[in-house]
Formats: sequence, C-alpha cells, structure tokens
Amino acid sequence: MEMHFRIQRFDPERDAAPRFQTYLVSAEPGERVLDCLNRIRWEQDGTLAYRMSCAHGICGSDAMRINGRCALACQKLVKDVAGPEVTIEPLPTFRVLRDLIVDLEPFFEKVAFVRPYLSAPGDPPERERLQDAAAKKRIDEAIRCILCACCTAACPVEQENAAFLGPAALVRAFRYVFDSRDGDTAERLRELDFPNGVWGCVNHYECTRVCPKQIKVTKSINELKREIRTE
Ligand code: SF4
Ligand code: SF4
Ligand code: FES
Repeated sequence: MEMHFRIQRFDPERDAAPRFQTYLVSAEPGERVLDCLNRIRWEQDGTLAYRMSCAHGICGSDAMRINGRCALACQKLVKDVAGPEVTIEPLPTFRVLRDLIVDLEPFFEKVAFVRPYLSAPGDPPERERLQDAAAKKRIDEAIRCILCACCTAACPVEQENAAFLGPAALVRAFRYVFDSRDGDTAERLRELDFPNGVWGCVNHYECTRVCPKQIKVTKSINELKREIRTE
C-alpha cells in the first residue's frame, strides 16, 4: 500500500523552527514503521535523522511519537498505523537535537539519581549472591525496562515540571528497592521520598499506556509510595 509519512524535521543550524516534510512510501502491512523510515533515508532523503540500533525492541533507541503516541518505531507495524497519513514526531518533553533525535541527557541523569546498581552489604561472597525467588518474581517486570524514555516523555507531570524524577527512573528504583540482595532499601526509599520524587506522580497512567514492555509503571510507583508510608 502507498502511505504518506509526515515527519517533523529540524536542523538547528538551518531552521528557525521545526517543520513537517511528507514522503510517499510503498509499505506492506506487516512491515514496521522503522522499515519505512529506513527506506526513506536510504532511498529518498539521506538527511533524515533518527536513532535506531537493534530493530527488535531491545535497545530502546528508536522511541518517537507515532500518530501522537510515544512508541518504538521497530515495534509499531504499518497495519497498526494504516491511514492516508502517518505523523512522526520526536518524543515530547525533551529538547530536539535534530529531526527525531532528542537530548536524553536529563533523562539518564534522573536514572543515575536512583543509583541503578546493586548495593549489597559486606564483602563479596565466594559464590554469587542468590536472589530470593519471591522477590525476583516481584521485580521481573521492572527488569524488562529498556530505558526507551517513552513513559517519561508521555507523562503529563514531567511535561509541566522538568524536576519530577519521572516514571522510568522510578521503575528503575523499584527494581532495586525490592531486590532481596540489596542492602540499601531504607536509604533508597528515603531518597525517593520528596515532592518531585515518588510523590510527583499523580496517577495519570499515561506511562503505563505507552510502555512498549507492558510494565505496570503506575502500579510500581504506587507500590513504592506504599512502602515509604509503611517504613
Ligand atoms: S502515572 Fe505518574 S508517572 Fe505515570 S504518567 Fe501519570 S503522573 Fe506520570
Ligand atoms: S518503563 Fe517502559 S516506557 Fe518506561 S523506559 Fe522502561 S520500557 Fe520504556
Ligand atoms: S531499534 Fe532497538 S528498540 Fe527499536
């Protein structure tokens, strides 16, 4: 089928403001939006800029707004966006560096704030530290997070208040707070207990709706809130 891809373009060295450019692409229903972008870049316009790497929903690099919704271009099928025109824009909330590429530095700074690594007490044991099976089950879903930033970009609170820690960082915090091998649980909860931390979330559920890994983001944040209340 023939489809029009209306893509937001922006070159900070040439453009005063973002503009849209439309490309006609011949696409099969089972192809992915990423395949169409690649075809545009390879066959029509080599200046189109976007991030991609794995093409299989693993690296999280090709998050963008597709028909108004944050998603991974490699997971979105043509048949799911079929219509006379598909609109592709960069993720909202973040500063656009060029075309569909946004500045994710502030995003990763927030992830770094929650100390996204195991802090196990004592000297390293002879053998690996064993995870409690029930705790592992609890964090399995959060471990699936690929840090694509869809949730944070889509969060209405984050869009209004850049100081909010945001859903992705909170999901990462959840993953360590409930890891039975971690020794910093109380300290980690204290670090999240401030207005722009866990309490910044007001349950819009937009993060949960857009997560390409089907992580119950809002539920995880609410479990952190509950844990802080019972500390
Ligand atoms: S549930 Fe919380 S983190 Fe998710 S979109 Fe709503 S306010 Fe943002
Ligand atoms: S929680 Fe989901 S949407 Fe958010 S960064 Fe992780 S994978 Fe992406
Ligand atoms: S290109 Fe890696 S997640 Fe889409």
